[in-house]
Amino acid sequence: MSSAAPSPKTFRVKSFGCQMNVYDGERMAELLAAEGMSAAAEGDDADLVVLNTCHIREKATEKVYSDIGRLRRDDGSAPLIAVAGCVAQAEGEEIMARAPSVKVVVGPQSYHRLPEMVADAAAGKRATETDMPAEAKFAALPKRRKSAPTAFLTVQEGCDKFCTYCVVPYTRGAEISRPFADLVEEAKLLVAGGAREITLLGQNVNAWTGEDDKGRTVGLDGLARALAANPDLLRIRYTTSHPNDMTDGLIAAHGELEKLMPFLHLPVQAGNDRVLKAMNRSHTVDSYMALLERIRAVRPDIALSGDFIVGFPGETDTEFEDTLRLVEQVAYAQAFSFKYSPRPGTPAATMPDHVSASVMDERLQRLQAAINRDQLAFNKDSVGKTCDVLVERRGKHRGQWLGKSPWLQSVHFTGDADIGQMVTVELVDAGPNSLSGRLV
Ligand code: SAH
Ligand code: SF4
Ligand code: F3S
Repeated sequence: MSSAAPSPKTFRVKSFGCQMNVYDGERMAELLAAEGMSAAAEGDDADLVVLNTCHIREKATEKVYSDIGRLRRDDGSAPLIAVAGCVAQAEGEEIMARAPSVKVVVGPQSYHRLPEMVADAAAGKRATETDMPAEAKFAALPKRRKSAPTAFLTVQEGCDKFCTYCVVPYTRGAEISRPFADLVEEAKLLVAGGAREITLLGQNVNAWTGEDDKGRTVGLDGLARALAANPDLLRIRYTTSHPNDMTDGLIAAHGELEKLMPFLHLPVQAGNDRVLKAMNRSHTVDSYMALLERIRAVRPDIALSGDFIVGFPGETDTEFEDTLRLVEQVAYAQAFSFKYSPRPGTPAATMPDHVSASVMDERLQRLQAAINRDQLAFNKDSVGKTCDVLVERRGKHRGQWLGKSPWLQSVHFTGDADIGQMVTVELVDAGPNSLSGRLV
């Protein structure tokens, strides 16, 4: 227990990890603002720093401890530190024991309690809250008021899939879907506050299910259709999807619902059935490829994205080559790839035949080269197309604007535009990470 300190007046929330953590970070900032605190300006000291952490790989977790150690204000004093997110959930007690400067530890299912915990901490009481209460934290959060042109909306949380390498089922708990009516309401507020594009989020977003306003059970496509009815909402995206939850209805929606953008992040993880089975992915290479075929049949221009893990325990050279072959066949528009990282408490961590660091490095390099090649090819293929771009912000150069194409490519152009506007652009040049366009 430490002595009392003045209540914090300014705060900073630093989010790591996935987009759901970004969403949670925004909600925590809104909570603190509702208590009368203000966000510290860029470069200024904050009285309270919330580290909204990620536990997915070892590197991400170690970063938390180095960040805690480095947090100092200009006068040398430590700010009030709160650790939130998935490391808080997984290692709450350990953080409290290892880092005395941390006064608050709060998990992803209980961050609605952050303000009172901060007040207690300022009064000298350190506290940990990592329960996964059944009652919805969302109900306790303030109503949303302002939004950037692109907004995140968490619709589903948790995971029941238990891939053998992954901590998410332990840090985020069981799969739950937020109620339809709450989501329609939150989306309405986001759009009223300026959002033109909403990305629906969930660890398994396509497992979302609920009861619509007519009492019918609907899936994510039903939710997307309801949101699309709002004329001021122009684009809908969703992430991350699991191949096994890709329903007929959702696939069909890609062919019918104009506001549903032609982009799908559908991680496969590996291109070999033995490895997929050991990962407990419950899909095969063939079932995944067949799924892509059905999606491409209704939406031929769909941009595909994925996640890959190289060096899963026992992965042989030939099994890795299968992953390269899958990548070549799919030709992803973009993809993320990671070296396998053993996570405490997961089944894979105790599997035999861990792959050496040097082999993992080499595999990752080869995979990333293949992915980069496809990404550049996808962008080059887009040159000559005319498409909508939703303007998100100003670019580095005078008169330059940045936004996204329907296929989630970054596009820059100069001319008469404004943030939040949808403009028509002809794509004239492509690099690996962005395209340049000309206003039409
Ligand atoms: N729910 C999503 C995202 C999970 S985390 C999904 O199922 O796709 C994002 C990515 O991190 C995963 O897709 C996986 O590729 C990677 N990942 C998860 N655990 C990992 C581990 N232990 N080591 C390396 N990468 C991992
Ligand atoms: Fe992790 Fe698998 Fe669940 Fe994705 S589906 S969050 S990789 S356990
Ligand atoms: Fe990381 Fe937790 Fe997201 S572990 S990837 S922040 S769900």
